[in-house]
Amino acid sequence: MIELQHVSKSYNGKIQAVDHIDLSVERGEIFGFLGPNGAGKTTTIKMITGILEPDTGTIQVNGHDIVQDPIRAKRSFGFVPDDPNIFPRLKAIEYLRFIGEIYEVDPVVRRQRISQLAERLGLSAALGDRIQSFSHGMRQKLIIIGALLHQPAVWILDEPMTGLDPKAAFELKEMMREHVAAGNTVFFSTHVLDVAEKICDRVAIIDHGKILLCGTLADLRARTAEDASLESMFLRLVEQESEQSIPAASEPAARKPRFPWGKRK
Ligand SMILES: Nc1ncnc2c1ncn2[C@@H]1O[C@H](COP(=O)(O)OP(=O)(O)OP(=O)(O)O)[C@@H](O)[C@H]1O
Ligand SMILES: [Mg+2]
Repeated sequence: MIELQHVSKSYNGKIQAVDHIDLSVERGEIFGFLGPNGAGKTTTIKMITGILEPDTGTIQVNGHDIVQDPIRAKRSFGFVPDDPNIFPRLKAIEYLRFIGEIYEVDPVVRRQRISQLAERLGLSAALGDRIQSFSHGMRQKLIIIGALLHQPAVWILDEPMTGLDPKAAFELKEMMREHVAAGNTVFFSTHVLDVAEKICDRVAIIDHGKILLCGTLADLRARTAEDASLESMFLRLVEQESEQSIPAASEPAARKPRFPWGKRK
């Protein structure tokens, strides 16, 4: 459903934010994209969603190349970005009507979905208010509703838990589960490892633009030779990776990652 091959991106030709990654997200899975700050998660997601163009490699979403066939690719996914700043002067309901029209959702269906999703996320009473009066979490909820209006085959979210209250975070996890149960796919980045551990079918860990590990939790345990929580595996991996990336005073700056548990995927 999401297929990345040899994808790279650098900023200003200097910072190698994403470094030749391959990633394959299958239909019907919740896939967690993990990594420390600055690892390359948002850059990858921006390439998958067509906001940034990769320097090298190809990306397919739902069988459509995001660079060659962006409209078809974009029709097939819904996106919740990490920064929920959108159209401040629109009322929430106006924003949702607008999104519904862009995705050509039948107006009757659109009204039903807006009302169900808003009720579920506790946003019904605020739908008539302008977005500029919304808190961060309320904007986040509004974008979540907008991203689901056309029931996308692929739902992509960048740090969706940030700013959500516990009830909304619970509902969001349930919505992700229901989305895949209906035969769709969810791909999201997160720092909340407990959430990833609970709901993801598979995860990938990225650091310094490279995928360190990718697989189910059981795969990760087998390959790191640890019977541990995702949190402790993550911390160990990232610690090892950054130890490798700090050059000794007399050494050149080149990084030589070492993977004691074997071949990286
Ligand atoms: N617009 C930009 N211009 C220059 N460098 C950038 C830009 N956006 C990101 N970077 C750099 O690219 C690298 C990857 O950043 P990215 O935002 O993809 O990380 P992230 O994994 O999403 O981090 P976080 O967990 O903090 O959201 C970082 O070194 C960052 O400084
Ligand atoms: Mg990010």
